[in-house]
Amino acid sequence: MKMSPIMLVLGGLMVFWASVSLMVIYPALTMKEPPSEIYRVESPEEAKGLDLYVENGCSYCHSLFIRTNDWGEGASRMADRGDYRAMRPAILGTERVGSDLSEEGGEHPDDWHLAHFINPRTVSPVSLMPSWEFMGREKIALLTAYVQSLGGKVGDYRVDRQRIWKERSLAAYRAGPDSNISWIHGQIPPVWLPMPNPYAATEADLQRGHKIYQQFCIGCHGAVGDGNGSARPYMEPPPLNFTTLRRHLVDNKYIGGIFYYQVMNGITGTGMPYFKRILESEKIWAVSNYIAVSFVGYTDAAKAPAGIEAAGEVPWKNSYVPPDTGKGAP
Ligand code: HEC
Ligand code: HEC
Repeated sequence: MKMSPIMLVLGGLMVFWASVSLMVIYPALTMKEPPSEIYRVESPEEAKGLDLYVENGCSYCHSLFIRTNDWGEGASRMADRGDYRAMRPAILGTERVGSDLSEEGGEHPDDWHLAHFINPRTVSPVSLMPSWEFMGREKIALLTAYVQSLGGKVGDYRVDRQRIWKERSLAAYRAGPDSNISWIHGQIPPVWLPMPNPYAATEADLQRGHKIYQQFCIGCHGAVGDGNGSARPYMEPPPLNFTTLRRHLVDNKYIGGIFYYQVMNGITGTGMPYFKRILESEKIWAVSNYIAVSFVGYTDAAKAPAGIEAAGEVPWKNSYVPPDTGKGAP
């Protein structure tokens, strides 16, 4: 065969189309991802929300797949290719300036997301996520529908749970402040109610608690603990007012265990998030002492100057001399 320019072009085209067929067309026709156990079809709103997610570059800061090194972060399952069956385009993101969002559905109720999208710092005071207020409420609602769909069927379960508890917490809130608090405390397992804060409310402990409050709580509960933080206009029920809690002390004495339980687990159905994965135990006790002393005006904190002796606490007074056991330093 004579190698003419026409043959060269034809041959080149044949090689090109053979590669495209083998590497693009054939796989696209034959590779059908089996749906994963959590997969479900997206609603039209959620699909529009995904478009907004892609257009606004959310994936520059968030990923949408759980990796093996996420077990320690509280992930409940590994990502499966069948999770992304209908995701077009499949922009999973690799950056994690913010958190992985693949299990975001039902983590928070919609009112939390509204406040967060309008200005992230209202609910997360040191957040560096930008404000999306310019989008307007309609688009924010679509974006919220999308993030609430993340996690598929498991996310739906959490979203349903938020909805049920939202109805209950709103009913309690509308019944008036005192019955609201009784209802909230009624959800706490009884063993936690008469539990004092085991750490002394020393100056260091209160300063630590103050810092934690500013970093995580002030946007909702407000600088003076009355629930008038910047997130309040978006929250239903609104953030709790701590300054009226004194009359709700259990047996006129206890408040520490209640605070610890609520901060650890959050209050499902309300904007109150859980902090069990962010704050260590000691910090939860410290912020509890801070709220109790500064806003409630009373703390049940342990009176012992050194807190829990055996826990390796540094004595709170510089002049504190450990008891002489005759055995030298422990
Ligand atoms: C510049 C980086 C950045 C961009 C861009 C960004 N985020 Fe974030 N996002 C963060 C950070 C940091 C956090 C964690 C602090 C917080 O809660 O605001 C966060 C938190 C979140 C959370 C809450 C996670 C949780 O449950 O605590 C959601 C939901 C979220 N982002 C959605 C979005 C969406 C949707 C977009 C796009 C419209 C977006 N983010 C764009 C940085 C970013
Ligand atoms: C996004 C808003 C938001 C943030 C952030 C937030 N809270 Fe709350 N908090 C609430 C709401 C809403 C309630 C419940 C209101 C209701 O049901 O009436 C609540 C309730 C509580 C309660 C229950 C009090 C009781 O007597 O049972 C405690 C304690 C509490 N918050 C502490 C904190 C602490 C500490 C932080 C920071 C580490 C924090 N909250 C961050 C919104 C928030």
